[in-house]
Amino acid sequence: MNNKFIWLLKNSRIYKSIRSIVLRLTDSLELKVSPAFLLLSQNLEGTFNRYDAIVRYMAIEELQGANNTGLRLYHKMQRARNRYLISKGIKIKPEDTNKDGTLMTLVESFSRHGFNAKYPLTVNPQLGLVDGSHRLACALYYNVESILVEKSGSMKVDYGFDWFSRYFEPEELLLIQQQYREILKSIDINAVLNEVLSSEKQVFGRGGFYQSFEKLGLPGQRPTTERYKIYKLDQHLTPDQRVLDIGCNCGFFTLMAAENVRSAVGVEITHTLVQIAQMTQVYLGKTNIQFRLGNFNKMEFEEQFDFIFSFAVHHWLDADMKNYGKRLHGLLNAQGKVLLESQNIHKEDHDWQEKLNRFCQAGFKEIQVGRLMDDGVIERRFSVLQKTE
Ligand SMILES: C[S@@+](CC[C@H](N)C(=O)[O-])C[C@H]1O[C@@H](n2cnc3c(N)ncnc32)[C@H](O)[C@@H]1O
Repeated sequence: MNNKFIWLLKNSRIYKSIRSIVLRLTDSLELKVSPAFLLLSQNLEGTFNRYDAIVRYMAIEELQGANNTGLRLYHKMQRARNRYLISKGIKIKPEDTNKDGTLMTLVESFSRHGFNAKYPLTVNPQLGLVDGSHRLACALYYNVESILVEKSGSMKVDYGFDWFSRYFEPEELLLIQQQYREILKSIDINAVLNEVLSSEKQVFGRGGFYQSFEKLGLPGQRPTTERYKIYKLDQHLTPDQRVLDIGCNCGFFTLMAAENVRSAVGVEITHTLVQIAQMTQVYLGKTNIQFRLGNFNKMEFEEQFDFIFSFAVHHWLDADMKNYGKRLHGLLNAQGKVLLESQNIHKEDHDWQEKLNRFCQAGFKEIQVGRLMDDGVIERRFSVLQKTE
């Protein structure tokens, strides 16, 4: 099928009607998001992986007379990209060898009309960009409010720092990274994270974030820095440790703890919360954290940990406390510790002491106890437990 035929088909009434029915039936296929939301969603395991969009942004800047390096870097990237695709056995279409025309046309169109919703960007289920890097760069440059993305296919594209390091000189890499940081600086992270939070009805957080993040000025139901102090975590966490945070919610506590340890893994069952955690990680450029989406009860771990956070989560895991103790015991290194925090001690955990005892039967001794009512509403207890055998 040639391109003209596909274009005619895509613009035909019947195609549009079928597409709109499909989209209505599966409304999650098409999404309206801000360009910053999409940019921060570009990561592989928490590391930004679409520097190609940054180079395109620099080329747009040069077209607007704002620098004199963008187009050279852009041409170099396109040549490297073609070589790379050929080496992977992927055929290059003639129109893909020189994209200057595409870029100029897009710049012209964005500068006059903003984003054209007739041409949604294509993303994979994790919102990784499959097609539309030029459009994302234009949307960022022209500061458009929202763009349309369509979930289609599962392709993962990686133009991360390692890819660029293979083809670019250190001083060029520096320029690209500088530009990336400039773009990040211009992002209203508070607004983007709220955009993600409100894209789905949340169970926790009373309409806002469950955890606050003082570093970014984000309020939340439970104050992260204060909790960190109440638990006396600076007496427990050391730079050589690996930490696991079970039911990490939006990951702000994990992000804070990760500043003081070697690495951290946050596990969370809610998709939008993991999105928030990963976007914040990308925004802050933290590479020693892995946020994993899924049910902790079914998750396998290759590594052992030195410290496990089990904050207000055992109730949601529907865990028998002795079995839960056994599971965490198995995930800890010798002398490893768990911080086990209750839910409401007047409700779900009215039998807290009994639960704690059952947990300890798996081979733990209590080395610290405490209580807190950090959100001003719910009274909780916690214990730091150390592995004994
Ligand atoms: C009450 S919140 C506590 C959040 C966090 N631990 C804290 O204290 O700040 C419980 C969290 O556990 C998550 N969760 C519930 N069941 C889970 C499961 N089976 N696996 C992973 N996370 C789960 C929820 O989505 C929620 O974010």
